[in-house]
Amino acid sequence: MKNILVTGGAGFIGSNFIRHMLSIYDYNIINLDLLTYAGNLENLMKFENYNNYFFIKGDITNKMLIEDIFDKYFIDTVINFAAESHVDRSISNPEIFLKTNVLGTQVLLDVAKNKWKCNPDDKYCFKFMDGVRFIQVSTDEVYGTLGEKGLFTEETPISPNSPYSASKASADMFVRAYYETFKLPINITRCSNNYGPYQFPEKLIPLMINNCENNKLLPIYGDGMQIRDWLHVKDHCRGIDSVLHKGEIGEIYNIGGNNEKANIDIVKIIIKKLNKNKDLITYVNDRPGHDRRYAIDNTKITKELGWKPLYTFEDGIYETIDWYMNNKKWLERVVSGDYLKYYSSMYALSYR
Ligand code: NAD
Ligand code: DAU
Repeated sequence: MKNILVTGGAGFIGSNFIRHMLSIYDYNIINLDLLTYAGNLENLMKFENYNNYFFIKGDITNKMLIEDIFDKYFIDTVINFAAESHVDRSISNPEIFLKTNVLGTQVLLDVAKNKWKCNPDDKYCFKFMDGVRFIQVSTDEVYGTLGEKGLFTEETPISPNSPYSASKASADMFVRAYYETFKLPINITRCSNNYGPYQFPEKLIPLMINNCENNKLLPIYGDGMQIRDWLHVKDHCRGIDSVLHKGEIGEIYNIGGNNEKANIDIVKIIIKKLNKNKDLITYVNDRPGHDRRYAIDNTKITKELGWKPLYTFEDGIYETIDWYMNNKKWLERVVSGDYLKYYSSMYALSYR
């Protein structure tokens, strides 16, 4: 039995992860989420009455709250998804990225270290054998950008280019430091671009699906030839599950789909599937500091933990487009902002 604190569980990947975990295990899942614009509790409506799922609205930078949660739920596992996650927003307002992504992670690490009584004199934290673990969900963006050749391995030097990736890289360094200094049992996962259901339509794929369906222009940054290594969110969730159960303490694992695609090609797939006109494509100013290419070498997690992606991009992208088309109400409520009212209508009277 585990008592898992999932932070940022109302967001895109966090909510998919909670769905994955609750469908396989009996673990207690405690979802702590601030419900920023990116948090959508409607994603988890189905689980509200599960007796092993608990939601708490709160901020990962609030140390007293985190301490209370550790005490009340006997937390033995932390999986930290909570973050400001959008590169464009980090360019217009970097400060909140520093606060949530760096300070928030450090608060979680500190509470875990204290509550788990980590002892710098031990090789590992004394409760390590009891299965205590802190997983930091990081990103391939910490490695910076690639040229036409090469792949990111776990040994690639950190070289972030955006305020977002700089904040994620800083958080990773704190996670590493808490392992080295205090023997906190940690893992860091670094994943490539995710796609799939429940993604906020500010990110490339859901934004293009939504615009395309509504005959709005499709803004392509620069020449549209930037490359991302796409991974279906369900494969990412399975990857984190593998690290949680089989990962070696202190190790970093890259998670990627061997699936490089240029942005413009993705947009063309969406246009074709939705039977729209290519004239919707509009080239706009490039993102400042835009990373040209990301591509993950996933040899370590495949060889050592036996994980591999199950989705082909073709199946995954068609299934994803269908999901958004079959869930237009979800999309409309996100675009209109109505989803933000859900928490106050459902949870206002109860502290769960
Ligand atoms: P998201 O923006 O969809 O969700 C983030 C969640 O964190 C939201 O529910 C939000 O309300 C919550 N949150 C924000 N600030 C908080 C705070 N101070 N306290 C508590 N909760 C807070 O992000 P996502 O795409 O699901 O990404 C999840 C994690 O995975 C992030 O750490 C991100 O860096 C990482 N990641 C994302 C991708 C990707 O392609 N989306 C790829 C690799 C890694
Ligand atoms: O690589 C992992 C990262 O992937 C995660 O750490 C981030 O949280 C996640 O947001 C994502 O970052 P990107 O910047 O790669 O994702 P985004 O969807 O914002 O953009 C994907 C590519 O598409 C990028 O090259 C910019 C381009 N783009 C994006 C948007 C929103 C456009 O050309 N037009 C757009 O309107």
